[in-house]
Amino acid sequence: MKLEILDPDEWAPIVGARLVAFLPAGRRRRICLATGSTPEPAYAVFAAGGGALDDTEVFLLDEFMLPEGDPGRCDEMLSRALLDLCPAPPRALHTFDVSATSLDAECRRYEERLATRGLDLAILGLGGNGHIGMNEPGTSADSPTRVVELHMATRQNAARYGATSPPERGVTVGMRSLLAAAEIWLLVTGEHKAAILKQVLTEPVGSDLPASYLRYHPNTTVIVDKPAARNL
Ligand code: F6R
Repeated sequence: MKLEILDPDEWAPIVGARLVAFLPAGRRRRICLATGSTPEPAYAVFAAGGGALDDTEVFLLDEFMLPEGDPGRCDEMLSRALLDLCPAPPRALHTFDVSATSLDAECRRYEERLATRGLDLAILGLGGNGHIGMNEPGTSADSPTRVVELHMATRQNAARYGATSPPERGVTVGMRSLLAAAEIWLLVTGEHKAAILKQVLTEPVGSDLPASYLRYHPNTTVIVDKPAARNL
């Protein structure tokens, strides 16, 4: 695992430009994208810097059990933070149908699509309790894409994102598919993430801190700003 500590002013320009470079025209990349506050400034730089997704297959990382169109949903956040800012839609966009009659079948369908050709890159954020996607503490390293019960803090995140009511459940790409990605960027910013980042990087790898599994991944870069790195 590589660790990069950047000035807060440089963080978004560097991550955004790196994503532009990762998705050159003509390459059919497959990427999995987190939503939430952390990646938003980098996505904005990507779009403003001429980033295009026309040749890219995008997989949404997770979704809250909220009605279609709810502003707190991850697909809505991804549209606001990235897709609406890009000149053309992605080559393909994979999102979860959380209204499906069988959510288990929906998760299997998603996992099969992920497995077709794997992921070139997963861009992840770090939850305040060490979660990745909605892989909450207690998750095993080989967890599949599935329905999950959300921890209280994760429900409150949904409210922070504009959800009309706090969801109790969500669906998430599991650790198994994430750890199979060719490359992972774990994005962490802000002093409020300093304590959990230190735990993730220094405490024993295990299900108490799902993000710690990334330490066993051969090509993960943790890209943090200086306030988040304060305790390192
Ligand atoms: C969102 C997601 C979550 C967030 C995490 C950090 O798609 O997967 O795991 O990345 O909760 O959220 P922020 O960035 O809002 O602090």
